[in-house]
Amino acid sequence: HELMNTNDQGHLTIGGLDTTYLAKKYGTPLFVYDVNKIRENARAFVDTFEHYGVKAQVAYASKAFSSIAMLQVAKQEKLSLDVVSQGELYTALQADFPVEKIHLHGNNKNVAELEMAVKYNIGCVVIDNFHEIELLKDILANYQTEMDVLLRVTPGIEAHTHDYILTGNEDSKFGFDLANGQAEEAFQRLQEIDTIHVKGLHCHIGSQIFETDGFIMAVRRLFDALAGWKKTYHYVPQVLNLGGGFGIRYTDEDQPLALDGYVEALVTEIKLQVDQLEMDFPEIWIEPGRAIVGNTAVTLYTIGSKKAIPGVRDYIAVDGGMTDNIRPALYQAKYEAVVANKVNMPPSTTASIAGKCCESGDMLIWDVPLPSVEPGDILAVFSTGAYGYSMSSHYNRFPKAAVVFVEDMQDKIVIQRETYQDVVKNDLSYE
Ligand code: LLP
Repeated sequence: HELMNTNDQGHLTIGGLDTTYLAKKYGTPLFVYDVNKIRENARAFVDTFEHYGVKAQVAYASKAFSSIAMLQVAKQEKLSLDVVSQGELYTALQADFPVEKIHLHGNNKNVAELEMAVKYNIGCVVIDNFHEIELLKDILANYQTEMDVLLRVTPGIEAHTHDYILTGNEDSKFGFDLANGQAEEAFQRLQEIDTIHVKGLHCHIGSQIFETDGFIMAVRRLFDALAGWKKTYHYVPQVLNLGGGFGIRYTDEDQPLALDGYVEALVTEIKLQVDQLEMDFPEIWIEPGRAIVGNTAVTLYTIGSKKAIPGVRDYIAVDGGMTDNIRPALYQAKYEAVVANKVNMPPSTTASIAGKCCESGDMLIWDVPLPSVEPGDILAVFSTGAYGYSMSSHYNRFPKAAVVFVEDMQDKIVIQRETYQDVVKNDLSYE
């Protein structure tokens, strides 16, 4: 794994620091992020678009991992920000994120969310449905102000890893269908509202994608619509937002796409399309979440009990599980792990890593080669930076884990471990 570095003692290090030291200092389960890797990932996106001479906004999809510290790093790296709820927007404001670079998503934005977006004058709202258009119109009237929006359309392409599916009407709760005319109907309605400015179109075709084809197909579908809208309404978009979805490597099965190839293919296709329609090259916005943070963190756990079922399987249990990483249980997601204090020891057995929740499906990794382990050893699971902490829960009343950032050989706690007082803090007595 790319975060696989060891020190003289044969311990796993992250950002140059001994993970067993971090586990001892902060306890486990513990998320440890290598901030330099976050910066590298962010810069790769920004620099690649710049290299191809494209005006772009790289909006970090904060659902992947949102915290004040994380959004401060995103701000420092000149990223824009995709938020999908009032909670994510609130976090962004707490991080003092430049409001003009915040984009608000959501398939059921409520009045409070839209009001917050308007009040703080964020960069744009991504319009998802008819109901929201009317809500936004009324709020803008109350506040006597205006708002830039993107129109979220479903282009009829659903991409998963190596496959993409072309459909007519996409069966999705998000956005307006291009195929059945709803996107155009929404566009017409928006054109009637003079406080709302349609800056462009948005689409998001899926997540953990390894091929550029799906993105290119989506671009073609957007331009099919835009060709008509140019003719009928003389409309030319300033922005095309192609969403997120860039895959990362969790195990050897995963082959991330090369950013260069992606941007080059994208630019070539868009150039072709805009030349045909005689329009200016639009700004390209993208929304990577996983690709910014996914491979930048490890989760550290303490190994506890073991159970050997002869002829079947050995289980090794750790002190976290589906509460800090639901992805294996929810998506059969695969991860790699090492014993952080025994990295140089050759594997002597194959075992499956179980969590400590009261649920059989609470497994982190099936059948992973490991050296012989003892209670108290530290297990490090790689590539847990995206959709780990952000999807964590209080199941079984586990307090949420802590998060530490490491940079320049310094460790800094950025999300405190919850206490048992935190766990019951909203409970009220009934006696
Ligand atoms: N933009 C939009 C509109 C999205 O819906 C998403 C993710 C993203 C950007 C960021 O996608 P990314 O670059 O991270 O793939 N919980 C799942 C992933 C759900 C993604 C939902 N939308 C997981 O753990 O794999």
